[in-house]
Amino acid sequence: MTLVGTAKLASAVSEGGGLGVVSAGRMDVETFERELEDAIAMTDKPLGVNIPVGRNIEWMKAIFDMALQRNVKIVLIGGGDPKPWSPLVKAAGKLLGIVVASPQQAAKAEATGADLVIAESIEAGGRTSRDEISGVTLIPATADRISVPLVAAGGIVDGRGLAAALALGADAVQMGTRFMLAKESPLHQNAWEAMLASDITDTLVVGNHHRMGRRVLHSAASEKVRQREDDASPEEMIEMLSGEWSRQGLHLGNLQQGLIACGQGVGLIHEVLPAADIIANAVRQAEQHLQRAFSIVRNPKRSSTRCE
Ligand SMILES: Cc1cc2nc3c(=O)[nH]c(=O)nc-3n(C[C@H](O)[C@H](O)[C@H](O)COP(=O)(O)O)c2cc1C
Repeated sequence: MTLVGTAKLASAVSEGGGLGVVSAGRMDVETFERELEDAIAMTDKPLGVNIPVGRNIEWMKAIFDMALQRNVKIVLIGGGDPKPWSPLVKAAGKLLGIVVASPQQAAKAEATGADLVIAESIEAGGRTSRDEISGVTLIPATADRISVPLVAAGGIVDGRGLAAALALGADAVQMGTRFMLAKESPLHQNAWEAMLASDITDTLVVGNHHRMGRRVLHSAASEKVRQREDDASPEEMIEMLSGEWSRQGLHLGNLQQGLIACGQGVGLIHEVLPAADIIANAVRQAEQHLQRAFSIVRNPKRSSTRCE
């Protein structure tokens, strides 16, 4: 996650049994290199990197060049056409993951050489697709189209989401919003407090008219973007959705001028926890919910019990 997937958070996720991902988004090459090296120093477990496809080709080249020489297991490409970059990742012997938002894109990603596909549904925080497909339909439809492992992303913040995604045909999940509220995340206290006070109805998508859709938390700043977006020029939109507005929200906790990108699942999160506890709780809760579901399928007439 851009501005969130730092060395500290990524290494804590890997130490906790997940795959921590260091994000290159909005970082210059030197800063990303430092974060990546710090992450590698903080854990001997596997790590991934996420490189969002941008318009700055020189930056992309330098980022790929640096990351592919480092000890990372998986390179995830999000937010644009992965084709020019996929061969570089494969040639470096890394696993390639491609982020998609529809089954059609997933099939193309596999044809491009993806070793795994991340299908991100409309509930997700950050960039959204105009296809607006929910996870309940995106996951099985994508599972039907690809043979490589499928990672479900969007709205998954606990063991219930994990159980549901697996039951729908995913092989793993990617959680973004949940780890924004991990103890090791770089978010400002104000951003945490605003997120903890939010319900599942408290996010909105801004920037859709300009093909720059982002799911963000309701705030004075996101309201400002919504009011201006119909008449805004593309340059103005880029400025509003740029790293600086997000940095203000996420790192400085300025909710008047700063955006907090996050998913609908924010309304299901009630505490800040260490990353390792988030993972352990999700696994335990998923097991309970899968057992509960199994017993209902086996014996639909019995009175159903709720679990954690
Ligand atoms: C603040 C923020 C920044 C993100 N940045 C990126 C990014 O740089 N590249 C990317 O592929 N996905 C990015 N995402 C999407 C996440 O990787 C993940 O797929 C998404 O958060 C999953 O949905 P969830 O937020 O409902 O858990 C971002 C999400 C958030 C909330």
